[in-house]
Amino acid sequence: MNKVLIIGAGGVASVVVAKCCQNADVFHEICIASRTKSKCDNLKERFEHEKIKITTAQLDADKTENVVRLIKEYGPKLVIHVALPYQDLTIMDACLETGVHYLDTANYEPKSVPKFEYKWQWAYKEKFKKAGLTAILGCGFDPGVTGVFSAYALKHYFDEIINIDILDANGGDHGYSFATNFNPEINIREISANGKYWEEGNWVETKPLEIKREFDFDQVGKKDAYLLYHEELESLAKNIPGIKRIRFFMTFSKKYLNHLNVLQNVGMTSIEPIEFRGEMIQPLKFLKAVLPDPSLLGSRTKGKTNIGCIYQGIKNGENISYYLYNICDHETCFKEVGSQAISYTTGVPAMIGAKLLLEGKWIKPGVYNVEEFDPDPFMDELNKQGLPWIENFSPVILE
Ligand SMILES: NC(=O)c1ccc[n+]([C@@H]2O[C@H](COP(=O)([O-])OP(=O)(O)OC[C@H]3O[C@@H](n4cnc5c(N)ncnc54)[C@H](OP(=O)(O)O)[C@@H]3O)[C@@H](O)[C@H]2O)c1
Repeated sequence: MNKVLIIGAGGVASVVVAKCCQNADVFHEICIASRTKSKCDNLKERFEHEKIKITTAQLDADKTENVVRLIKEYGPKLVIHVALPYQDLTIMDACLETGVHYLDTANYEPKSVPKFEYKWQWAYKEKFKKAGLTAILGCGFDPGVTGVFSAYALKHYFDEIINIDILDANGGDHGYSFATNFNPEINIREISANGKYWEEGNWVETKPLEIKREFDFDQVGKKDAYLLYHEELESLAKNIPGIKRIRFFMTFSKKYLNHLNVLQNVGMTSIEPIEFRGEMIQPLKFLKAVLPDPSLLGSRTKGKTNIGCIYQGIKNGENISYYLYNICDHETCFKEVGSQAISYTTGVPAMIGAKLLLEGKWIKPGVYNVEEFDPDPFMDELNKQGLPWIENFSPVILE
């Protein structure tokens, strides 16, 4: 009997729940637990069917003891953590205390410093190993599928990968002047931070959005893509042997960037608490409260995403390049699970990682990033579960 505890009830969690319900032969029972219980109840109502039992619970996962109590009550084999990165460590601690496997989609970030790094979670490796438990880190799309793509490229096409460019394009339009496609707080913290990429064994830092490249994305068209720091750069720099350079580019429209600039200029994206009518508030948290809820963008969003990686490297002494990517249609996702493609491209891989873990294909005691597992069963599942991939053996290479 596979019982799984899903923590979080936002955009990504709703897709995880929908896809677990589609795979009820593996996910026999799920419990959805989050800060706002009514959101969990709503997901149960939308997706439960006769082959899967869903329960719900109120949970503040900021405190380990709350998570421990719920795990003991419910008795899951695995926790799928799709709340926020701030809860990674409290949930990992609870999994260790109760003997339960762990999976997430975003690496730990302290609330007070916009600095996501794997060092905090990698430090748990020995503890998970000793406990015979598997922790799978960053199992969304990016990070997640981008790591699986890299392991697949290395396994099947390269003797050595020298350069990786990760390209994330969202050609979707939701009709709002400004909205973020996933949690606004996490999204804006990511974009307004300095850019960074890996080159020749060093991190090269840039100003926020300083480096721009135009790229013609299949089925999305020509877009400006900006260099950002993204968490999989850290794990791929460590896990792809001999890698010389890894960069990450994401597309933003001029309209989006204009709004972001204004918000930044007036201090609305700051995480420094300010006093407002006798209370301390974080401007960015206030901004999140007034922006559209990303989990409700689905019904209005049209267009496609195109996310993938361009690899350059060597096979049998020859220089080769290879581009592996997925195209996902916002409206098709909405028809299938009631969410837009950003939540879909994150939630589907999280379910796949959980499925492979429960099936014993991705069990490895310790704490691992996705590229450290066999990519083949994951790549098969991507084709079956709604995120088919496309290969291009002569891609345009970014300068
Ligand atoms: N790897 C990738 O490709 C990728 C892409 C996008 C997003 N992500 C990650 O996916 C995660 C979920 O994103 P999302 O867009 O679904 O965010 P979201 O819509 O804001 O949902 C977050 C959920 O977590 C709940 N939550 C927050 N704090 C909590 C706490 N202390 N205890 C229990 N529940 C808590 C929220 O509860 P309330 O409803 O009460 O606020 C909400 O239900 C984030 O970590 C994000 O960084 C990864």
